[in-house]
Amino acid sequence: MLELEHITAGYGDTVVLRDVTLSVPDSTVLALLGPNGAGKTTLLRVASGVIKPMSGRIILNGEDVTGKQPYDMSRRGMCSLPEGRGIFPSLTVRDNLILQSSKGKESATIEKAVTSFPALATRLKQIAGSLSGGEQQMLSLVRTFASEPKIVVVDEVSLGLAPIIVDRIFETLAEIATTGVSVLLVEQYVTRALALADSACLLNRGEVVFTGSADELKGDEIFKRYFGIEISPIQ
Ligand SMILES: Nc1ncnc2c1ncn2[C@@H]1O[C@H](COP(=O)(O)OP(=O)(O)OP(=O)(O)O)[C@@H](O)[C@H]1O
Ligand SMILES: [Mg+2]
Repeated sequence: MLELEHITAGYGDTVVLRDVTLSVPDSTVLALLGPNGAGKTTLLRVASGVIKPMSGRIILNGEDVTGKQPYDMSRRGMCSLPEGRGIFPSLTVRDNLILQSSKGKESATIEKAVTSFPALATRLKQIAGSLSGGEQQMLSLVRTFASEPKIVVVDEVSLGLAPIIVDRIFETLAEIATTGVSVLLVEQYVTRALALADSACLLNRGEVVFTGSADELKGDEIFKRYFGIEISPIQ
């Protein structure tokens, strides 16, 4: 469904990604892992049309979408949750939910949002920018199901959140994945990401150093080599 072929990309003259190839087949979850500064966010920016690659191609559902804008990508079924939060801070929570929703499904979206994240239930009239960091993250996550996407691209949605909320976020991502939506996931919680993922891609200094099934990566020495840690059940 989403294929990145031989992507080289960066900022100005600085090359960050070198010849990166990966694919996220239909209805699967790919965990994109790597140390800080490896180029994960940059790769998601390329995939979602925020930055144009210097070379290489992006194929979405068989169509070459290289050079398309983020808006074109979202029209083609991509929902992107960037690092930080993709919400409208000056609008209320309710209005944010309505904007995230597919047409005609606004009430259902609000209902599902407060069921998934009860913390939002009492805050519908509150200005989104005044929510706590965790609440804002939950609100932004609603978009991953409210806009009925085909592929979701998420960058560290769990960053800075309490473990109990992280659990809830992973449950939500797992639910989304079971509805046939593909997910390209960047996560600091490696073990949780691999538990959810079908396949994994390990990026180091802008290059792919491993690509394969999530299970293969769990048993691979390569992970320890690049992260200096073993994948443990608790993280
Ligand atoms: N807007 C930018 N302009 C110039 N350089 C940038 C920009 N954004 C990122 N970089 C550089 O590109 C490299 C890769 O950054 P990127 O944000 O993609 O890494 P990352 O893997 O997402 O790291 P982290 O795990 O810390 O989020 C870094 O060296 C970073 O300094
Ligand atoms: Mg990043």
